[in-house]
Amino acid sequence: MARYEIKGGNQLKGSVTISGAKNAAVAILPAAILVRGKCRIENVPDISDVRILLDILRDMGAKVVQPELNIVEIDATNVACTRPTDSLVKKMRASYYLMGTLLSRFGTAHVALPGGCNFASRPIDQHLKGFRLLGADVEDTNSYVCLNPGPNGLHGARIHLDMASVGATINLMLAACLIPGMTIIANAAKEPHIVDLANFLNTMGASITGAGTDTVKVRGVEELHGGTYTIIPDQIEAGTYMAAVAAVGGDVMVKNVIPKHMECITTKLQEMGASVVEYDDIIRVISNGKLRGAAVKTRPYPGFPTDMQAQIGVCMSLAEGTSRLIETVYETRFFGYTSELTKMGANINIIKESKMAVFEGVQRLHGADVAAKDLRAGAALVIAGLTADGITRVDNIHFIERGYQNLIEKMTALGADIKRIED
Ligand code: EPU
Repeated sequence: MARYEIKGGNQLKGSVTISGAKNAAVAILPAAILVRGKCRIENVPDISDVRILLDILRDMGAKVVQPELNIVEIDATNVACTRPTDSLVKKMRASYYLMGTLLSRFGTAHVALPGGCNFASRPIDQHLKGFRLLGADVEDTNSYVCLNPGPNGLHGARIHLDMASVGATINLMLAACLIPGMTIIANAAKEPHIVDLANFLNTMGASITGAGTDTVKVRGVEELHGGTYTIIPDQIEAGTYMAAVAAVGGDVMVKNVIPKHMECITTKLQEMGASVVEYDDIIRVISNGKLRGAAVKTRPYPGFPTDMQAQIGVCMSLAEGTSRLIETVYETRFFGYTSELTKMGANINIIKESKMAVFEGVQRLHGADVAAKDLRAGAALVIAGLTADGITRVDNIHFIERGYQNLIEKMTALGADIKRIED
């Protein structure tokens, strides 16, 4: 067990380089299963979710080499396994992308239900509905999903998602890659990592159009070939550092970002009183730590991301006046961090019927012993600790280390007083 110990009060100054996108990496790495040949994938974040996925791929028989920390070479040509080890699969959420990849490459898959951050009920009915429309026979139990070709075999299909699910869009794009015929995914999610996955797959020979719009078309091809691909920067890691500077105060260049992906976060922080200036692949945030209250409603991309809800919640805890934060993607996500922020002196009232948290800004937070209940809730507690008077100890940091490469090193380089303490 380890925890972070944070002494608050230091302004953040200097520059921080954003790593590759977690949610793109966790889709692209299993996608390598579709490829006969070597995929060289660059800008892969060094985070525990990636390490677990690489263990799963090795365990399935893929050759996995890491010539450098953030470069991974995967050759899955000789993989024959269609039932990845349950205990590994259960360690993370995105292991469910193996359903789509194995179905596509082998026509069959037996995959345990995933683990990961459980801040809400996270059903996968849309993934399964799509697999059925692609012609699969789906056995769905409480502990695993088993896919096999149905009586008419696997074939392209038109799939209209009931909601723009990121995971279902990705899983169905993966599944459709090698299935004969045209698949159309309507009401698709548009997040940047969906475009990144499509670019990766097309580089390897897939035929995908429309990624980034609400209609993604995948024409099944016979085979994918090896190639080299670089993952996009992490929108949420960048947003987390931007929110940290806004709340704590300071002047930081957030480097290796795609400013377009950051627009709704940039705009909101500007509205709250921070100065946010965009350059080609850098965003500079300057703040004196004094913010104004705001209203935020989380939405699928290009709206304000639910994965930034907790971090902006810290800004709202300290902003002058009343702020309103409405969650539209995962109703119960507030509960991962608001009770912990309250221990630090925040004034938050959750109005369950309206899926809304109301923040009455306080002048200062104070240090406390708190626990991360999921990845982004944990990141928010780190930001809160950096603003607070006294010492904050954050437990359950394994959640945070799922998704933030070198958080301690990056924050320390900006002047934060934060240590990882081993018990
Ligand atoms: N939903 C269903 N049925 C489904 C799929 C989704 O009802 O079959 C519902 C969910 O319950 C939720 C909404 O649809 O209310 C959206 O869920 P989505 O499928 O889009 O989320 P996800 O694929 O499970 C990904 C990210 C999450 C991020 C969400 C929303 C990955 C690995 N995870 O999850 O990231 O919060 O999209 O943007 O890409 C994180 O990085 O901290 C994280 C949790």
